[in-house]
Parts: sequence; structure tokens; C-alpha cells
Amino acid sequence: MTFPGYFVSFEGGDGSGKTTQARLLGQWLGEVTGREVVLTREPGGTPLGAELRRLVLHGDHVDARAEALLYAADRAHHVATVVRPALARGAVVITDRYLDSSVAYQAGGRELSEEDVEGLSLWATHGLLPDVTVLLDVDPEVSAARLSGEPDRLERAGQDFHRRARETFLRRAAAEPARWVVIDAAAPLEDVQAQIRVDVAARLDLTPVVEEAAAVAAPELPPGTVSEPAEELDEPEGVAGGLPGGFPGGVPGDGVAGDAVAGDAR
Ligand code: TYD
Repeated sequence: MTFPGYFVSFEGGDGSGKTTQARLLGQWLGEVTGREVVLTREPGGTPLGAELRRLVLHGDHVDARAEALLYAADRAHHVATVVRPALARGAVVITDRYLDSSVAYQAGGRELSEEDVEGLSLWATHGLLPDVTVLLDVDPEVSAARLSGEPDRLERAGQDFHRRARETFLRRAAAEPARWVVIDAAAPLEDVQAQIRVDVAARLDLTPVVEEAAAVAAPELPPGTVSEPAEELDEPEGVAGGLPGGFPGGVPGDGVAGDAVAGDAR
């Protein structure tokens, strides 16, 4: 079944900056489309999910299959109670992690079968896949250095685990290029965001909407008028070049710790 809304997921390693980038994209998509934006995340996008998140990330050892089932349970409830209703209302839903995280971490990382883990999530969600998935790709060694605070159970899983997860993300992106956008997350935050906007707008067929919004924001000059040089603009290239809705209030810090997203805009 297709929905009137747009479904975007962000994927990538811990510390890749997904949370910040998802929030900035949400602000911008709200401005250019005029739609409701729901920013959410997995695990933990619902009250039940918050409990599951605590158990799976901050509890004792969890068996690999039990771990896969807990993430799938979180996802099933999240999709049924938050994602599908929002998409049915015509909202833009942006989730910080979705099904591909399970395939990357529970299969790629933990070595369960990819078919099993993906099949489990497809069953849990009645087959709901994002319209576009943004992979913020970064070397796990670089992203580990960005993390602050006490590492959770998954963050402690080791470099090999995170390297395998990264390889799984990249392989899935290469196999399904119509759904995935791969961005080098080691680039400066503003450049990453500008690239995400261009690529997501193209994948969602929003480029005409974006151009229309840009034309309203900057009405065409009468013939013969000389336009001012754009050197005053402090927005990144590609955003200043016509996309409205830059970074209101400046670019926030790279808030990768990540507990503040769920429910922000709901
Ligand atoms: P979180 O603090 O949200 O990390 P991040 O900010 O990097 O997204 O913790 C989520 C952790 O759970 C992260 O290490 C990835 C892991 N995870 C899975 O292993 N499987 C999944 O299906 C999902 C959604 C997350």
C-alpha cells in the first residue's frame, strides 16, 4: 500500500551525526513542503520502545536471536502506532535508524543470516520500506572518536563488529541504489546537510517543489537589474544556491549522543 506521506530513514555507524542531520533535514522539508514532520527513532520511538531500548542497550548480555527479536518488536510497535498513522496523514516521517540497522548489526555484526533478520523485520512491519534511506558513511575509527559518555552495549561491541556493520550498509546501498543515498559523513556538517537535501529532494521527486519555494523566497529580478553578489550569504554551497530554509539560528553542534529526537516534532 502506498501512503500520501514521505518516509525517510537515516542509517550509519554510531557517531556518524545522523541525529543532527535528520533534525536539520526535517526542519527544511517542513519549510519547503508545508507538511507536518515527524522526527522519530529506533529503538525507542514509543513508550514501549523506550523500555525495549533500555533492555537491549543498557541491560546485561542478550542472546543474538533475542536481540534481533527485541529490535523487531520495537519496530513493529513503532510502525503500527507512529509511522503508518503519520504517513497516512500525509506527514514526512524521518526515522533515526530502521530495518537496515537490524540487517547491519544483527546479521552483519552478529552473524545471523541476513535473510532471517530482514524477513523478521519485513514481517514485523507488513513490508514497509522507506522511500529513501540516507546512509551517513564513516569509518568506525573516526566515529568512535566522536562519541562521548558511557558507551552502550552495542558501542562496546568492538571495531570488527562495527566494520562488518558498515560493510553491510554499503553493500545494501549498492544493491538498491533507487532507495539509498550514500553520503560521506566525514565532510563538514553543512556540506553533508546540503548534499542530503539535494539527494533526498531528487529521490522524493520534490525538486520542482523546492525550486518553486526558492523562486518565492527570491523573486525573479526585472530585466536589466543587476543582482548583488552572493558573498554575504553564509549558507553552504548548494543551499545558498537557491534552496530556502538554511540552518535557522546557525548550525548546531554535532549532537551525536542522540536521545533527544524521539517525539520532538510530534
Ligand atoms: P543509539 O544510541 O540510538 O545510537 P545511534 O545514535 O548511533 O543511532 O543506539 C542505537 C544502537 O542500537 C546502535 O548501536 C545501533 C543499534 N541497533 C541495532 O543493533 N539494531 C537495530 O535494529 C537498531 C534500530 C539499532
